Amino acid sequence: MPTVRAATPSDGAAIRDMLAAAGLPTADLSASAVEFLVAETNGALVGVVGLEPHAPAGLLRSLVVLPQARGLGVGAGLVSALEQNACSRGITRVVLLTETAEAFFTRLGYVSAERASMPPDILATAEFRSLCPSSAVCLFRDIPSS
Ligand SMILES: CC(C)(COP(=O)(O)OP(=O)(O)OC[C@H]1O[C@@H](n2cnc3c(N)ncnc32)[C@H](O)[C@@H]1OP(=O)(O)O)[C@@H](O)C(=O)NCCC(=O)NCCS
Repeated sequence: MPTVRAATPSDGAAIRDMLAAAGLPTADLSASAVEFLVAETNGALVGVVGLEPHAPAGLLRSLVVLPQARGLGVGAGLVSALEQNACSRGITRVVLLTETAEAFFTRLGYVSAERASMPPDILATAEFRSLCPSSAVCLFRDIPSS
C-alpha cells in the first residue's frame, strides 16, 4: 500500500500533471491555499488530494489516483488521511463538489446538500464560484472532533 505524506514543493509538477490528466481544475492553484497530501509507491506519486482549509469547514478538492493504481483503496486512504488532518486543525465539516465520483464519496459517508447551504467561506472559493459547473454535486461529511 502506498505511503501517504504531505506534498512538498518538488511534487508540484507531478501533482499538476495528475490533475490535468484527470480533467480537474488547476487554474487557481497558485492563488488558492491548497494543502496537498500525496500517495507514493517506490518514490513515485500514484495519487493526490487537496484541502483548502476554511475552519470550521474545509474544501476537499483535486482527488486523483492514477488509473493503474485504482480500485486498491488508495483513494479511500487519501480521503481518510485528509479527514484526520482536517480534524486535527479544528475542521469539522469537509465539503466537495464532484461530477465523477458521487458514489465513491457516498460510500465514505458523504451526503448531498444544496450548494447554498454551505458556509460562506466555502461558497467564496474559486471552485464553488467558477471552476466547477453547476451540474457538479455538492457533498459534505461532518467529522467528529478529536
Ligand atoms: C475517484 C478515485 C479517486 C477513486 O480512487 P480509488 O483509489 O480507485 O478508490 P478506492 O480503491 O479507494 O475505492 C474505494 C471504493 O470505491 C469504489 N469506487 C472507486 N471509484 C469510484 C467511482 N468513481 N464511483 C463509484 N465507486 C467508486 C471502489 O470500487 C471501491 O469499492 P470497494 O471498496 O467495494 O472495492 C479514482 O477513481 C480517480 O482518480 N478518478 C478520476 C478523478 C476523479 O473523478 N476524482 C474525483 C474528483 S472530486
